[in-house]
Amino acid sequence: MKVTVVGAGNVGATCANVLSHNETANEIILLDIKEGIAEGKAIDIWQTSPIGLSDSRIHGVTSDYNATADSDIVVITSGMPRKPGMSRDDLIATNAAIVKEVTENIMKHSPDTILVVVSNPLDVMTYQAFLSAGVDSKKVFGMAGILDTARYRAFLSGALNVSPKDIQAVLMGGHGDTMVPLPRYTTVGGIPVTELINEEDLNAIIERTKFGGGEIVKLLGTSAWYAPGEAAAQMVEAIARDQKRVFPVCTWLQGEYGLKDIYLGVPVVLGKNGIEKIIELDLNSEEKALLNDSAGAVRKVLDVLDGMDI
Ligand code: NAI
Ligand code: 2OP
Repeated sequence: MKVTVVGAGNVGATCANVLSHNETANEIILLDIKEGIAEGKAIDIWQTSPIGLSDSRIHGVTSDYNATADSDIVVITSGMPRKPGMSRDDLIATNAAIVKEVTENIMKHSPDTILVVVSNPLDVMTYQAFLSAGVDSKKVFGMAGILDTARYRAFLSGALNVSPKDIQAVLMGGHGDTMVPLPRYTTVGGIPVTELINEEDLNAIIERTKFGGGEIVKLLGTSAWYAPGEAAAQMVEAIARDQKRVFPVCTWLQGEYGLKDIYLGVPVVLGKNGIEKIIELDLNSEEKALLNDSAGAVRKVLDVLDGMDI
């Protein structure tokens, strides 16, 4: 198994480190455009292998796509992160050009690869990668839902003073402030969360989740990387090990949930073929309205991208 991570910044390097530590791939390529950064971080990660007891071998390269040839899975994290005061959508023009160039280069060397997009604005960058890759949408999708759900689950575990391991949740929609956490599909050790927490506290957690990225941007001056990097690595692991995990993933919809020609977060089964199944939940009218609002917000940015000459 060969995995390439494009972008050796905060998220890309974290993802590569988790992949190496978990021995998800025997060969990992870390690629960046900035001279030396991927090489340096790859050597550092390689030097964790005798400590963490990993046989994965990682190599860093500067813009050398030959080294990425025949990758089974590629994670795209290249692009600018948010700065305080910026929305994810402010990144669109810069990051769309980067994602296009990276995707074209990757596909030249790995035409059968599966692409996991992380760059923001996530739903729209995933669409850009899909357009540039020209392959089945089952092989091009984005990471956001695992991160957003992890934030929701972490906040719930803190409020309830229970293990985050026992909290299961579904969250849908775009990776933005209109994301849709679904309390009706949230359980704690199999118990509906609504039996354990009052409505006011649950709503406060939902609001904190929606703005969870911004909370960290305000504190750090850049966006989060530990949870995003680990979330992307978890998707790679599900594909590499054909785990058939059920995750919320930014996926190309063709009529599911009444939505068409849009990338949006929905629950899917992830395995060796990429998106193996899109799961359609029987949403109630309130949930459907929230999902449609979120789709509307993503659609506006997709239209902006479609109107750009990238
Ligand atoms: P970073 O600035 O630390 O790293 C980005 C890296 O991309 C830099 O090292 C840069 O040199 C590289 N890069 C830029 N253009 C490139 C090109 N053409 N080819 C190869 N490498 C190139 O940023 P960070 O924090 O790692 O974030 C990366 C992206 O992920 C951002 O767009 C950020 O907004 C997004 N993000 C998405 C999340 C999600 O849930 N989907 C969560 C967190 C971040
Ligand atoms: C995050 O949610 C900014 O998308 C990035 O942390």
